Parts: sequence; structure tokens; C-alpha cells
Amino acid sequence: MHARVRHNAVWTLGLGLALLLLSGPTALAEQPSTHTSPLEPGQGADLAVRTPDEYAWRLFADISQSAGNGSNDTVWETWADQSQLYTNDPSHTPVWPDSSHRPKELGPSLQHVLAGLPAGGPGQPNGDDSPPGQDDVHIDRATFDYVVANQIWSMQGLTTFVQHTKVKFPVDSVAVKARWLVIKPSDEPRYHWQTYHNPNTNKDEIVGLVALHIASKVLPNWAWATFEHVDNPGRCDFMGCHDLFGQIPADVAPHNKEGQQYPPEILTPALHDLFSVAGLGPEWQNYRLKGAQVDFTTTTGQPILLGNSVTEAGFVATSSCMTCHARATVDTQGGGLPIFLPSPPLTGAVGTPDPSWFPVDDQGTSLYYQTDFLWELPLITTIADQSKSPESN
Ligand code: HEC
Repeated sequence: MHARVRHNAVWTLGLGLALLLLSGPTALAEQPSTHTSPLEPGQGADLAVRTPDEYAWRLFADISQSAGNGSNDTVWETWADQSQLYTNDPSHTPVWPDSSHRPKELGPSLQHVLAGLPAGGPGQPNGDDSPPGQDDVHIDRATFDYVVANQIWSMQGLTTFVQHTKVKFPVDSVAVKARWLVIKPSDEPRYHWQTYHNPNTNKDEIVGLVALHIASKVLPNWAWATFEHVDNPGRCDFMGCHDLFGQIPADVAPHNKEGQQYPPEILTPALHDLFSVAGLGPEWQNYRLKGAQVDFTTTTGQPILLGNSVTEAGFVATSSCMTCHARATVDTQGGGLPIFLPSPPLTGAVGTPDPSWFPVDDQGTSLYYQTDFLWELPLITTIADQSKSPESN
């Protein structure tokens, strides 16, 4: 009995090796997928903990599938735009949009505007120091429904709510922040692109997706990931690029000189396979996962950094998605912690959140209430004002 088992094991190993040698890398890439959808229900938390890069890609592929509305839209582009949700008007209940195509609405990066940094205006690049392009932020149905059910789409509603309940989004909440840059029509095949009506010039422009942030509440402190277009200059600067699932080599070291091009990595068979399951076109092969973040520090206590060369332009070196977003807070007057540390200028908070950021009064009541890592809540008033002023769109 014993001997037979052993014999079988040796035989199986031999056959396996022979098949592997015969098939070679090309055939491996063509193996049929074991997955029928990019991210199967209930799969998320386990993947996000064990293999955050794979989770990041599966979520990316899942929400970047075609919206099937006859336009170039991905699924996430049909989700509510944050300006539709945060009207700041308590009497106006936001309504979830249907999945039909809506004209793109883009605005300057609020993160930069509020920090007094050049923020990327319409018609970029404009030759100044601003990070190129403009943003849109979308929130999925679970996030949207939570905000509506708890009446926290206005600052008045939010400041009332936080005094009796902790903000806690449901586990299927996902938010994305995208950055778009005007591209030449001849570059369309290399980008996920859209037509954008620029209200300032009153002209239609072709804008290509250059950066995508995704945050998913699949883990208590959310799972964070950021993607860059492969052509973004300096995309691995300061912290390198790290993707154990989708690219070879998995780790790319930062250049000493900033703003240079990085050679394109090779995509893994597993990523090609995932793209084919999701039905993503060849343009998506020009995007790279810069990194995923599911913790504040490494096991040795070093702060984990992650920032996008475009979205976090100007402060990539002190960028930690989780730590900065942990500072998303409101007080009872609608104020809150600043986005950056007080000094030196434009320093992002990194590593474990500092208890001194969250003081309590004599009764032990917090002065700042966390908004469960979403910055859009403390910024409701700014978001509503921006979407009302036509010159900022
Ligand atoms: C220094 C602070 C800071 C860092 C670092 C940072 N963010 Fe943000 N993030 C913000 C602010 C402020 C906003 C809201 C304003 C805006 O949209 O620009 C925001 C908005 C977002 C949103 C839209 C949902 C929300 O919170 O309102 C997502 C998603 C997001 N960021 C993901 C990321 C990811 C992923 C990273 C890391 C790669 C990251 N952020 C790094 C400050 C930061």
C-alpha cells in the first residue's frame, strides 16, 4: 500500500514535469482560467489579507469592466460622482444614478487646492508646476446608500450624526479617485479615454486615464491600491513599484533622478488571464499597479509608504494612503484635522496614527470624529461649492 502510493506520487510528479516542459511559458499563459469572474463574491477579505496585490488587480478588473451602456464607460464611471452625493443640502436627498452614460465632470485636485498647491486646471498641461490633469471621484452603491440612509450628505447631517454614532461604512463599500490628462487622438489606443467637454474653452477634448486610486472597505481599515499609466514619468520615484501578482519584475527600484521614464515591466500570465476573464481591451495592458497597502507599518515598525506620482504629486515621499486617510475627521463645527502635518510644509503623515492627533476634552469626548477614512466627508462643503462654480469644472 505504502509502496503503491509512493509509486503514484513519483509518476504524477514525472508527468507533471513533462507537461510543464512541453507546454512552455506560452501555453501556460493560455491555460483556461479557473475563475469565472474577476472577483468572486466572498473572496475579497481573504485575498486582501494574504495577497493584497492580487486583490487589488481583481478589484480593478472587476470594476473596470465595460458598463455595457454603449459608451466607453467602465462600471466605476457609472457610479455616483461625489458631487451628486454631497449636495450639502439637507432637504435634497441624493438619488443613485442609472447606468447610462453621463458627460464627464472633472475638477482640480481638492487635495492640492486645499493645501495651496498648484492643482491642475482645465486644458492641462499648462506649463506651470501643477500636476497634470483633473480628477473625478466615484463611490459605489454601498457607500452611497450608507451616506443617504444616515443623512450625512450635508455637513449639518454629518456633524449631528458623529456625535452619537461612529461612521462605519459597509464591507462592500468601494471608492475610486481617477486622474485624467488631455491626450492626442493618436494616443487613444494606449489609454482608457473619454471625451470631455471643457467648459472653459467650450471645446471637446480627449482625456486619457493616467492614475486610479481604489479604496475598498473589505478590511476594517480599508484595502488601498494605486495604478499608474505605464508612460507616467517618475511613476516609481521615491518608493519604487511593487506588484507580486501582475508584473515581472515584481519590484522596481526608484531612480536617483526624479521624473524619468521607467521601462515597462512584463505582465504575468495570471494578469493576462484576469484581463481576459474581465473582457478588458488591450489599452488596459498599459496600466501598472504601483502598490497596495493594507497596514500602517511593516512587521519591523517601519512606516509603509504608498503614493501615486500624479495624484500625490509634490508629496509622494511622505505619502501613506492609510495614515493620511486616518486623519479624515470632523469636529462639531464642521472643522477637522488638516490634510498635512503642520510642519515642515507638505509633509504627509506616515506610519501608525498618533494618539495626540485625536485629543479629548475634560469629559473624555473626542474633539475630532473620524469619518472612517473617507476624506470626502470632512470636505462636503468644499465639494458642494466646487460643483456649483462653473469655472472650476
Ligand atoms: C496626504 C494625504 C493623502 C494621501 C497620502 C492620500 N490621500 Fe486619498 N485623498 C486625500 C484627500 C484630501 C481626498 C479628498 C479630496 C480629493 O478628492 O482630492 C482624498 C480622496 C481619496 C479617494 C476618494 C474617497 C475619499 O476618501 O474621499 C480615494 C479612493 C483615495 N483618496 C485613495 C487614496 C489612495 C489609494 C492613496 C494612496 C496611494 C491615497 N488616497 C493617498 C488625501 C490623501
